[in-house]
Amino acid sequence: MDRIFIRGGNRLCGTVHISGAKNAALPILFSSLLAAGASRYRRVPRLRDIDSTLGLLATLGVAVERRGAEVGLDASGLNRWEAPYDLVRKMRASVLVLGPLLARMGRARVSLPGGCAIGARPIDLHLKGMEALGAEIRLEHGYVTARAGRLRGAEFTFDRVTVTGTENVLMAAVLAEGRTVLRNAAREPEVAALAEVLNRMGARIDGAGSSEITVEGVAELHPVEAEIIPDRIETGTFLAAAAVTGGRVEIRDCEPRHLGAVLDKLRRAGAEITVGERAITVSGPERLKSVDIQTQPYPGFPTDMQAQFMALMSVAEGVSVISETIFENRFIHVSELSRMGADIVISGDTATVRGVRRLSGAPVMASDLRASACLVLAGLVAENTTEIHRVYHLDRGYEALEAKFAALGAEIRRVG
Ligand code: EPZ
Repeated sequence: MDRIFIRGGNRLCGTVHISGAKNAALPILFSSLLAAGASRYRRVPRLRDIDSTLGLLATLGVAVERRGAEVGLDASGLNRWEAPYDLVRKMRASVLVLGPLLARMGRARVSLPGGCAIGARPIDLHLKGMEALGAEIRLEHGYVTARAGRLRGAEFTFDRVTVTGTENVLMAAVLAEGRTVLRNAAREPEVAALAEVLNRMGARIDGAGSSEITVEGVAELHPVEAEIIPDRIETGTFLAAAAVTGGRVEIRDCEPRHLGAVLDKLRRAGAEITVGERAITVSGPERLKSVDIQTQPYPGFPTDMQAQFMALMSVAEGVSVISETIFENRFIHVSELSRMGADIVISGDTATVRGVRRLSGAPVMASDLRASACLVLAGLVAENTTEIHRVYHLDRGYEALEAKFAALGAEIRRVG
């Protein structure tokens, strides 16, 4: 099991280039199931979750080729409709095959993803959306079995905002007969990016990126060439790293418009930020000031930046109140931060963080993707050395993270 060692105390300086967004690439790669023919995708990040996605597509009969950040997928030979447990348990986003398989094949059998470290993460709203479109859904032996003739357009309101739930039902609706209206839909940029690719495949989607999406079903879709949008959470993670180390970093190939809430909080905490067309320059102060955050669906403060921000507040001046409203168990990183000397008290969905002058390096354990990023940030400013175990969590969502941090002057190395 790989470990990462970080010796804290260096200010980060220099330039970093952002990779394609994991959470845009996953639904877009699964959308290739909707068309017969060869699609090509650029700027696909090299991540374990992408490997899992391509592996699952190949088991369904999709021809897969990959050259660096370019991926080619041809679903002409699609001949299976089952996503098995051993693949889905590795990556819960595999549930995104449900909508495309139902739309293209009229059937799907997908293992229930089960929970994960940050919560139970049910998919009941995905299934309710498919039923609204006329699918017959059965749950048996840990699998979802879905069948439908041609899906029929419908009006459906999500009980709560769900990103992959919106993406899954949207991918089912594009080939349904008639009009579909999705209300209380997720507004994340990754949803809008998926809809843009689907429209370039011949779908007729309006309103993606807003909370009401209208789809006029079409008979078939054609292959596409697409580029994946920049990863806003990777961008946020580097913004946070520059701010907390008192450094000065230019972040290139990013999309500043996707980070309004994060930029606002970092400015309030004392970071100096200038925004260009596709770049952000951030300078950190001697010491950040405490600010409160409450995670919300986009365009609110993203839950995927909550752990990273908690690392910053752990050494900020003052007291910060952090509320996690999206997932019921997304404070796992708190116990590890506390072992490094952070002063954090949890009460329900709220953590009160009293900033300390310095954290102290320690052996710590990553528990999920963003908690791992939090521990990297803490290690960058802790005294002495921090040793992070179970870094495979990081590899799921950050491309070449230690190389990018080392290029900015961090003392960081991976030991296999
Ligand atoms: C997506 O997960 C992201 N993953 C997550 O990123 C992100 O944290 C999350 O959205 C919130 O922004 C991908 O896009 C692949 P949700 P998703 O459905 O879609 C509840 C990362 O680190 N819910 O928006 O699974 C659910 O339990 C990952 O990259 C239901 O109750 O999240 C949660 O409390 C982590 N029933 C809330 O809604 C459902 O049917 C939001 O979940 C679906 C969701």
